[in-house]
Amino acid sequence: MAAPNSNDAANAGASGTAPAGEEDTSIEALARRVQEHMTLANNPAARRHKFWETQPVGQFRDAADTSLPDGAIEPPTPLSEVRADPYPLPAAFEWLTCDLDDDALLADLYSLLAHNYVEDDENMFRFNYSPAFLRWALKPPSFFRAWHIGVRAKESKKLVAFISGVPARIRARDDVVRMAEINFLCVHKKLRSKRLAPVLIREVTRRVHQENIWQAAYTAGVVLPTPITTCRYWHRSLNPKKLIDVGFSRLGPRMTMSRTVRLYKLPDAPLTPGFRRMELRDVAAVTRLLRAYLAKFVVAPDFDEVDVEHWLLPQEDVVDSYLVESPETHEVTDFCSFYTLPSSVLNNATYATLKAAYSYYNVSTKTPLQQLMNDALIVAKQKNYDVFNALDVMENESFLKELKFGPGDGQLHYYLYNYRIRNGIKPSELGLVLL
Ligand SMILES: CC(C)(COP(=O)(O)OP(=O)(O)OC[C@H]1O[C@@H](n2cnc3c(N)ncnc32)[C@H](O)[C@@H]1OP(=O)(O)O)[C@@H](O)C(=O)NCCC(=O)NCCS
Repeated sequence: MAAPNSNDAANAGASGTAPAGEEDTSIEALARRVQEHMTLANNPAARRHKFWETQPVGQFRDAADTSLPDGAIEPPTPLSEVRADPYPLPAAFEWLTCDLDDDALLADLYSLLAHNYVEDDENMFRFNYSPAFLRWALKPPSFFRAWHIGVRAKESKKLVAFISGVPARIRARDDVVRMAEINFLCVHKKLRSKRLAPVLIREVTRRVHQENIWQAAYTAGVVLPTPITTCRYWHRSLNPKKLIDVGFSRLGPRMTMSRTVRLYKLPDAPLTPGFRRMELRDVAAVTRLLRAYLAKFVVAPDFDEVDVEHWLLPQEDVVDSYLVESPETHEVTDFCSFYTLPSSVLNNATYATLKAAYSYYNVSTKTPLQQLMNDALIVAKQKNYDVFNALDVMENESFLKELKFGPGDGQLHYYLYNYRIRNGIKPSELGLVLL
């Protein structure tokens, strides 16, 4: 999730201090409200979180308390005490456990997200996850169908909200923890601000607990209690003219279009000898490379071969992986990957979508990381992507500026549910990419 629709200051000043039914219009009250508004605008942590304050997550008020231990915030409860029934929904709606093998249902989910999922602050672009991507993202090894949770209107059967989890093993320092990765939280635009999101989050939490899993990882563009780290997206133009035409980027000062096009030009084919697409026979070698690399980071997935086959074996227009096989020894020494997430271009007469590649997991042992990623840019350009995006996680900072990525304006906050990491971590200490 790259492009938040931040509503941080939306409620600013709403918590009036005057007696009910009586507006306090004194200068002092006005000054207090202006002060409150400024505080919230500058410091989203000052906002009240009626839902999140009730959850086992790091709370802003505890941020300075260094006596709190790392690890689970709450112990697991006995499974017999996990609530057996779904949480109640408003009367017109019902829960729907989604079967993503059902093409019609998948089409409904695609459509809900394509029209209602994450937009940038200016509402110019909206994520457009493809049906094939959704299947890949939601059906990893040992997925739980019960964690694909829809809400539909009882009468029309229209899908109006969704939330999902998939199982993962995530290591935090030395502790490998079974977690749920929560993603694709979406409420139809017409049903916003009715406190439906907390019901969805409670329900997915209940179903995760039923599998005896007590922790989760998730990302959001909005500030909630409390990020373990805050990352920034960087963007590398591959098709600068289109990006400028749709308003994704602007022509730099003293730049012409033709100079810009020249600036971002790339060679026609990858430069590193032995650079080729990953195949099924590479799963063991890639797993070895990845495991050794991810061990460097404070928080990272604990991938085995089954995971690598699912998450990294190329699937056209979903996920792509390349590696360097030494022409002499045939040893696999380096690896890079990206996933495909187009965005709809809203209100543009010429273009309907932007084709974006998102940097996923990259490992260099022999080929310098910058050279490896330059080859990734080259194949992305060959495959007609318009832009290549990367977070400043892992060692990505070492190549972003050199390879002409520019910083984006959206932030991506990473969260853990029921797991404390005191003082948080730096983006460069994070080895986890969520889709
Ligand atoms: C995110 C979304 C589902 C929230 O629904 P909503 O109708 O705006 O908000 P609701 O009134 O139902 O619930 C508000 C509560 O949900 C929380 N919330 C909002 N966005 C959230 C998010 N992305 N993750 C977790 N909690 C979130 C709010 O902080 C608030 O809780 P609080 O009072 O404790 O702070 C909805 O805005 C949406 O579908 N947006 C577009 C897609 C999107 O941004 N999805 C999330 C991607 S991370």
